[in-house]
Amino acid sequence: MQTWMEGYESDIEYTAGYYREQEPNFLSLCAVTHGIQTINLEKPFTYLELGCGYGMTSLIMAANYPHAQFIAVDFNPTHIAQAQNLATEAGLTNITFLERSFAQLNAEPLFLPECDFIALHGIFTWVSDENRQHIVDICEHHLKAGGIVYNSYNAKPGWSMAEPIQKLLYATSKQFSGSSLERFDKAVKLIQQLQAAKPRFFATNENVIQKRLDGLIAKDRHYLVHEYLHEGWRAFYFTEIAQWLRQAKLEFIGGAAATDALARTQLAPTTNQLLAHIQDNDTRELYLDIMQNTIFRRDIFTRGAVGHLDNSARLRWFNDSQWMLAKPARFDDAAFNFKPALPKDLYRSLVDHLSAGVCTFSTLTNGNNRRDTMNALLQLYQANMVTPYYANVNKVAARFNQTLIKHNQSLIALPHARSSLRLKPFEAQFYAMALQLKTQEASRLAQAVFQDLESKQMTINHKGETLKGTPMKNHLINLANKWHSEILPLLKQGGAI
Ligand SMILES: C[S@@+](CC[C@H](N)C(=O)[O-])C[C@H]1O[C@@H](n2cnc3c(N)ncnc32)[C@H](O)[C@@H]1O
Repeated sequence: MQTWMEGYESDIEYTAGYYREQEPNFLSLCAVTHGIQTINLEKPFTYLELGCGYGMTSLIMAANYPHAQFIAVDFNPTHIAQAQNLATEAGLTNITFLERSFAQLNAEPLFLPECDFIALHGIFTWVSDENRQHIVDICEHHLKAGGIVYNSYNAKPGWSMAEPIQKLLYATSKQFSGSSLERFDKAVKLIQQLQAAKPRFFATNENVIQKRLDGLIAKDRHYLVHEYLHEGWRAFYFTEIAQWLRQAKLEFIGGAAATDALARTQLAPTTNQLLAHIQDNDTRELYLDIMQNTIFRRDIFTRGAVGHLDNSARLRWFNDSQWMLAKPARFDDAAFNFKPALPKDLYRSLVDHLSAGVCTFSTLTNGNNRRDTMNALLQLYQANMVTPYYANVNKVAARFNQTLIKHNQSLIALPHARSSLRLKPFEAQFYAMALQLKTQEASRLAQAVFQDLESKQMTINHKGETLKGTPMKNHLINLANKWHSEILPLLKQGGAI
C-alpha cells in the first residue's frame, strides 16, 4: 500500500455514483420538514464535498447551481484528474477539484473558504480515527454558522451481526499479496470454506450472514473492496457520531430523507410511550435505531439553525412550491414501493395531475387537505416519483449534459429539478441525437441511430435475438416512440432539452 493511502484501499478506483441526498435542495427541503429554516439557495453559496470519488455528484450539482461555488476533494489522483477533465471539457467554471488528503486540507486552511454545506458520503465509516478527527476539524474551521453538514455512515445495530464478516475479510485479505481485488477474491474463497465448516457464529446468525455472503458474490467488486477492506472500517451508533460532531458545535437536525420527519410522527403508540421517558435527543435516536435495526444512517447536522419553523411556516414553504414527475407516470399498485401513509387515491390523483405537466402546490391540493397533500408529495418524492420544480434559467447544464453523453455516462443533469436523471443506453443515444440534430421527432431520431449503428456495423441483441437491417430499424422506431412519449416530457420539464 502506498503511504498516501493512510489505511484506505486505493489501488482500485471507487465506482462513479450520484447521491441525491447530497443535493442542496434535497437537504434544505428535509431541513424544512424537520422544522429548520436553512440556507437561501437562490443566493450564491459554497458547497464542499469531502471524498468526492469521480465527483459525479459535485459535477451535476455544479451544473444545476451555476450561481454557487463547489469544491470537491479527494486524495486519489485518478479520481481528481478524471473529474477535472470532465469539468473543463463541459466548461463548468464554478467547481474546483482538489487532490488533497483530509490531513493536508486541515494543515493548510487557506485552501478552503467558509462553506454553507459540507457533505461526505460513507467516508466516516471507511477512514481512520485520525482522519475522522481531520474531518471534524475541517467542519469546525470551515463551516459557516447556520451551515449544514451531511454525513452518511454504516450504522449499528444493523451492522452488529455482520461486522465480523468485515473483520474476517480484512484480516484474511491482509495475509495475501497482490492487488486489493486479488486479495479480496482469495479472502472470499477462504471464508466460503469457513462457512462450509459450519461455524457456530454463522449458524446463530444465519439470515444476516447468508445475506452478507451472497452480497460478496453478487455486488460490484470495486464497491466491495471499498466497503470491506479499509483498515479503519467502523460502523457507528448514532450517539458516537453525535459526540464526534459536537466538537465542531454541530447539532442534529434529522435524517436526510424527505419522509423522515413524517415517519417520526407515525410511531406506534407503545414506542411513543417509551420515548416519552427519554429526555436526551441522542438517546432517543439510539432507541429508534434499535427499534428499526438501522444499518445505514444519512444524517443532517447544523451549526446554529437560522430559524425554527412551526407547522404553518412549513406549509407556507410548500405553498410556494411547484412539482413535476421524476420518472414516467406509471401508477399501479406495483408503484407503491413504500407504505402509503394516506389513501392510495390521493397519490394517484397527484401523479395524474403531474402527468399533464408542472403543477403548483395549490393546484395539487385541489380541495384536499394541504397537510395530506404535503405528506403524500413527500412520500412520492422520497420514492423518486416526483420532484420539486424550480423555474430557473440554466444554459450551463445543456453543455454539461452533452459532455456527459459523449463520455457514455448514463446520468444527466435536470436543472429544473436541480437533480439528475439516469438514462438507459438507447434513451441516452436518442437524447444525444436530439441535441445534435436539433429535432425531437421520433422517426428521425430512430433513423439517425439506425444509420449510426449500421455505419459501425453494429447489431442489437434483443431478447436473445440479433437484430440488423429492417428488424433493427423497426425495433429502434418502437424504442424512439417510447422515448418520445415517456422520456422527452421529463427532459423538457427538467430543462435538459
Ligand atoms: C465513498 S467513496 C466516494 C464517494 C463519492 N462521494 C462519490 O460520489 O462517488 C470515498 C472517497 O474518499 C476518498 N478518501 C478516502 N480517504 C481519504 C482521505 N484521507 N483524504 C481524502 N480523500 C479520501 C477516496 O479516495 C474515495 O474516493
